[in-house]
Amino acid sequence: MGDLLKGKVAAVTGGGGGIGRTICLLLAEEGAKVVVNDLGGSVGGEGASRGPAEDVANEVKKRGGQAVPNFQSVSTVAGGESITQDAVKNFGRLDILVHTAGILRDRMIFNMSEQEWDAVIAVHLKGMYCVSRPASMVFRQQRSGRLIGFSSTSGLYGNVGQSNYGAAKEGIAGFIRTAARDLGKYGVTANAIAPTAATRMTANLPDAAKEAKAKAGIKSNVGDADFKGGKGLEPEAIAPFVAFLASDEAANVNGQMFHVQGGEITLLNNPYLLRTMQKAGRWTAQEIHEIGSRTIFMDLRNPAPPASAAPGKG
Ligand SMILES: NC(=O)c1ccc[n+]([C@@H]2O[C@H](COP(=O)([O-])OP(=O)(O)OC[C@H]3O[C@@H](n4cnc5c(N)ncnc54)[C@H](O)[C@@H]3O)[C@@H](O)[C@H]2O)c1
Repeated sequence: MGDLLKGKVAAVTGGGGGIGRTICLLLAEEGAKVVVNDLGGSVGGEGASRGPAEDVANEVKKRGGQAVPNFQSVSTVAGGESITQDAVKNFGRLDILVHTAGILRDRMIFNMSEQEWDAVIAVHLKGMYCVSRPASMVFRQQRSGRLIGFSSTSGLYGNVGQSNYGAAKEGIAGFIRTAARDLGKYGVTANAIAPTAATRMTANLPDAAKEAKAKAGIKSNVGDADFKGGKGLEPEAIAPFVAFLASDEAANVNGQMFHVQGGEITLLNNPYLLRTMQKAGRWTAQEIHEIGSRTIFMDLRNPAPPASAAPGKG
């Protein structure tokens, strides 16, 4: 047992499985008392079970730590409030809120139903609000706290068949950049991690998305075989970075996005101005085409160029 987080209380959403489970175990090993939240549904968010949260809370206790399970959905305000309440009721305070809960409902945008869109936004993005608001009220009063969100390269770089997930994960990037500014003066930080790890979520990437990605010539540095064969992509590799962000040592790391995969930790850039073209007065569309193609658009690449035999092109 370490003591990096001695005396602190953490709540981890989606703590019953995958990356969240390993975070619960490590935060507890580092001395934190943990609320293990998990709805216990499928990767697609169907169903519910008390098993995953209960099992992880028991595992923490078996290893000599302190934990309580919470079975509520992060996608409701009441569920989010219950997580902070359970921390305060059982352990007297809350210092660390990690929002790891997530689901996938991949579909190409032209086929995506409203339900598929809403379900994914509700868990990841609305969930970020539902769990962060009550936690940040406590953090503000105690003048300290850590909010840690989970994003994804699918949102930050773009990925085929994931407009719902991508929008939610990019939304989390915007959320932490902004929450960092709301909360920094109270001694609270907000950061996010885009992880890559072999979990049930990456075990069965939908074939439709894989095929579309291959057709579009989009290559990933991590393939299916890597997810199945380990290769350092164990979810345990993400937890130490969470423990660091949650600690007092990370007091000035605020509003940042990191990619973590195996032994690699990368600080990602926040959006910044890349190139600007300016004239006195307004541009015409023709001028934008002529000047822009030689300046600001000169080396842009279409991530999914039209197929050579595109419909209507003969
Ligand atoms: N594994 C990866 O490579 C990867 C890549 C990019 C982003 N992520 C993100 O990391 C996070 C963890 O993913 P994972 O790979 O461990 O997935 P996972 O499916 O193994 O774990 C997600 C957990 O969230 C829980 N959950 C789902 N909906 C919930 C709800 N409404 N309320 C409470 N709990 C709920 C699930 O029951 C599950 O235990 C997710 O936010 C995911 O989007 C993972």
